[in-house]
Amino acid sequence: MILVTGGAGFIGSNFVLDWLARHDEAVINLDALTYAGNRENLATLAANPRHVFVHGDIGDSALVASLLERHQPRVIVNFAAESHVDRSIHGPEDFIQTNIVGTFRLLESVRAYWNRLEGDARPAFRFLHVSTDEVYGSLSRDEPAFTETHRYEPNSPYSASKAASDHLVRAYHHTYGLPMLTTNCSNNYGPYHFPEKLIPLMIVNALAGKALPVYGDGQQIRDWLYVGDHCSAIRCVLAGGKLGETYNVGGWNEKPNIEIVNTVCSLLDELRPREDGKSYREQISYVTDRPGHDRRYAIDASKIERELGWKPAETFETGIRKTVNWYLQHQDWVANVQSGGYRDWVNKNYADRQA
Ligand code: NAD
Ligand code: DAU
Repeated sequence: MILVTGGAGFIGSNFVLDWLARHDEAVINLDALTYAGNRENLATLAANPRHVFVHGDIGDSALVASLLERHQPRVIVNFAAESHVDRSIHGPEDFIQTNIVGTFRLLESVRAYWNRLEGDARPAFRFLHVSTDEVYGSLSRDEPAFTETHRYEPNSPYSASKAASDHLVRAYHHTYGLPMLTTNCSNNYGPYHFPEKLIPLMIVNALAGKALPVYGDGQQIRDWLYVGDHCSAIRCVLAGGKLGETYNVGGWNEKPNIEIVNTVCSLLDELRPREDGKSYREQISYVTDRPGHDRRYAIDASKIERELGWKPAETFETGIRKTVNWYLQHQDWVANVQSGGYRDWVNKNYADRQA
């Protein structure tokens, strides 16, 4: 079986659902159920004996050691993290705790487990650390896309904490020989994306008749990848990645934020037109920028394509249409995640931004 951490979050839950649909191998899913973790994402697995959910923290060494001993996973995929840049600006502490200290404790538990593995189990074992393109910092418009050898230059508490975790993973391979793989992926979108992030926030706000808050001039560029393609890339790296290597994962889909927001509005105009006949674009509001806002991310995904034959299956056009449709069909899921805690966050992040 495999152990997935953070498997009740956005990408982790997509990964677990995809994995169980394609493999016979069971999944132990360890998740602390922070505000971003949601067991409803895994509701279709309720009666599936190959999915074992464990509510707990990657930094709980006793719990992790007992899970490893009991289940003897051949693979660990580490998604668990604090993941939202704006939250890291308002309060970095949780990011340091989970992304750095938590990863460190998890690595220590895994090191002890791996040292005890015998026979074929030891060379077969893999630890895949899921990371981000944000560790590379910001690009100007003309610079080439990030390759795996681009210098680390993180700019937010979130990306700095992810960079630290990447360095720990690298060090555990070089120092202790642990069989590590790291993926650095660009911006994901798709089902179960928590509506604090750009695309789901815009869909949810548009349908609720609220403002669509675009930070700064809206010309910041992100490189978007449908979440199912990120999951297929991780499966591909697990199957064929070289130990100790990192693989950049991206969709060759660089787009300015305002173009993303306009696309979401156009799709909603088509699929769920406003009652007054006007476009959802009327709700766009340019607001105070994010402090230290990275201008552009772009992933050069040629290594994973060349060495492992991975390519995204979705174009941005097919992926964003699927996504908007998913949110239209899952209004109950949206209503359930908009708890008091969600409303507090929206007040904290948006109330002081000038339109
Ligand atoms: P998310 O915030 O939606 O989910 C994170 C999950 O981790 C949640 O279920 C949460 O409960 C769990 N978690 C948090 N702290 C934990 C802890 N201490 N122990 C156990 N579980 C804990 O995040 P996401 O967007 O699904 O991102 C998953 C991973 O992928 C993260 O490592 C993130 O840095 C990385 N990543 C995300 C993107 C993106 O666009 N979302 C892109 C590239 C890489
Ligand atoms: O690049 C990968 C990263 O992508 C991941 O590592 C992070 O976990 C993930 O959250 C994401 O980070 P971003 O900061 O790029 O994503 P976010 O959806 O928060 O913002 C995308 C862009 O949209 C960014 O330039 C900020 C802007 N934005 C965001 C929000 C929430 C707005 O203009 N308005 C908003 O309300």
